[in-house]
Amino acid sequence: MIKTYPKIIVANWKSNPDSLFEAKKIFDTVKKIKVNYKKVLPIICPPVIFLENLTKKYRGNLKIGSQNISYMDSSELTGEISGKMLNDMRVKYVIVGHSERRMMGESNIFISQKILNALKNKITPILCVGENVRDNGGEFLRFLEKQIIESLTNISKENIKNIVIAYEPVWAIGEKGHTMDVHDLNQTILFIKKVLVEKYDRKTGLAIKILYGGSVYDENISEILSADVNGVILGRASINPSVFNNILKKI
Ligand code: PGA
Repeated sequence: MIKTYPKIIVANWKSNPDSLFEAKKIFDTVKKIKVNYKKVLPIICPPVIFLENLTKKYRGNLKIGSQNISYMDSSELTGEISGKMLNDMRVKYVIVGHSERRMMGESNIFISQKILNALKNKITPILCVGENVRDNGGEFLRFLEKQIIESLTNISKENIKNIVIAYEPVWAIGEKGHTMDVHDLNQTILFIKKVLVEKYDRKTGLAIKILYGGSVYDENISEILSADVNGVILGRASINPSVFNNILKKI
């Protein structure tokens, strides 16, 4: 089970940078950032191709995550990354269901299988969910509910304790200035908690950690963390070590 650190900060490097040389430079700078690990749990998720090189000799406190895992461990899945391989790299977390992968065709059910494979390999899945658009009639809430319920197909009450949920409204990703306002964010988090409480039970549902992602920077981190969230997932801000440093400092 994931420890109750006050704030989880996931650095989703996505498909950046373009070279191992650059990746090492970013990682070396990030490693030097002074972090109060009682207050912050940073999880660095570089592209898988850089994982081995970045983490080979690394024995520090930063946690390492992957941006993908295969839906099952099999030797016959061309191009896939098995849980066993990630275990060998000492990877403890994996992002699943990110909207950019959903856009490539990953379905809720496929994502639920990835979650199960991660859990089987003792890797904590960070499940991303979020609506594409917000409407005034509340249709986006139905969308969100379906996404959560289906992505958690066959995930038991025991297993859900080992999963982190990241709420990332797609319209807020990659659009600096499009971050949610705290009131809307709190309402949506409350809705997600209601869905989880109804699927599991009150105690289990309310214990699940929920992060926010979508255009979080050093300028708005304090505001976002004033909402009822257990941390954030950062995209562009995480590959800029000085912005990342500022964010950690503000926490
Ligand atoms: P962003 O991305 O911070 O660049 O908006 C967040 C994400 O996609 O996880």
